[in-house]
Amino acid sequence: MKVGVLTGGGDCPGLNAVIRAVARKGITRYGYVIYGIYEGWKGLLEENLIRPLDLAATSGILHRGGTILKTSRTNPFKIENGAQRIAERLDKEGIEALIAIGGDDTLGVAAKLHKLGVKVVGVPKTIDNDIYGTDRTFGFDTALNAATDAIDRLHSTAEAHNRVMVVEVMGRNAGWIAVESGLAGGADVILIPERPIDLDEVCKLIKRRHQRGKDFSIVVVAEGAQIKHVENSTGECIVQDDSVDQFGHVRLGGIANYVAKEVEKRLSFESRVVILGHIQRGGTPTAFDRVLGTRYGIGAIDMVHRGEFGNFVALRGNNIVAVPLAEMEGKTRTVNDELYEIAEVFFG
Ligand code: F6P
Repeated sequence: MKVGVLTGGGDCPGLNAVIRAVARKGITRYGYVIYGIYEGWKGLLEENLIRPLDLAATSGILHRGGTILKTSRTNPFKIENGAQRIAERLDKEGIEALIAIGGDDTLGVAAKLHKLGVKVVGVPKTIDNDIYGTDRTFGFDTALNAATDAIDRLHSTAEAHNRVMVVEVMGRNAGWIAVESGLAGGADVILIPERPIDLDEVCKLIKRRHQRGKDFSIVVVAEGAQIKHVENSTGECIVQDDSVDQFGHVRLGGIANYVAKEVEKRLSFESRVVILGHIQRGGTPTAFDRVLGTRYGIGAIDMVHRGEFGNFVALRGNNIVAVPLAEMEGKTRTVNDELYEIAEVFFG
């Protein structure tokens, strides 16, 4: 049987571990022929982006960040007859099963394609760790460690200059990176999309810390956090420009500048901003992400073998299980109150 594999959406450390595991077990245990579909869904809509993936092509990639299959944010449902063209293309190539590795957008497309008859299995990926239905996505641990390392480094320079350091981390709809890196790095305030920012409260916390003899503070803010201007308002995100991608996402970025300016204006504490951006997505995956990625890859090819299409591999507790793609569609796994309340103990 021919099995196709693709990676879609933003890249994420650990993608190559998944691809390697799919190819290794698919070829050696099940006798499948594995095809790499390059640049996400685009690979099934354009020519010359489908190539065989043999053992040699997937060897030596475990420790590498990025994805050997490349990726894109192409949305077939935004392209004329896109879904139909994908189904026809798979047919023409003789690819009977598809493994789609991606975040909520890619898995959402996979869910819709499955309803149209495509035999697809999903693998959840995102550094944001916000896919509903799984306890963890690979890539998160690597991003978390990069952010924690940055916060550790910022402590000494913040202290040396008596400054407020505002660190912006990724996290579009959920603040997992912010909360966990803030907890691990000892942040004094953590701001996340789940809780609109109350600048009066932020300033109160920083002031309280300074009153108890500390001359510097570290504020961690997720890029998707919103400013609460008036009571009961849902707030608003800071965006880089008005453009949106094919999934309707704006380019976030800059909330840290806003927070730092307001803190400096209201408290007269000198402030600086560090936006970590794609540093969090690049580089070598941690051992945890390599292991989780490998487990997901093996889980996905096993699901193909058992004919469990229309599902994605998920981590529940310490078990890899199959979860219907329809269950994650349109939902986000947000930070739970319990974890945020633990972080809050250390604020101010
Ligand atoms: O979804 C993962 C993520 O890293 C988000 O946190 C971020 O908003 C987005 O990707 C940025 O993606 P890019 O700049 O690659 O389009």
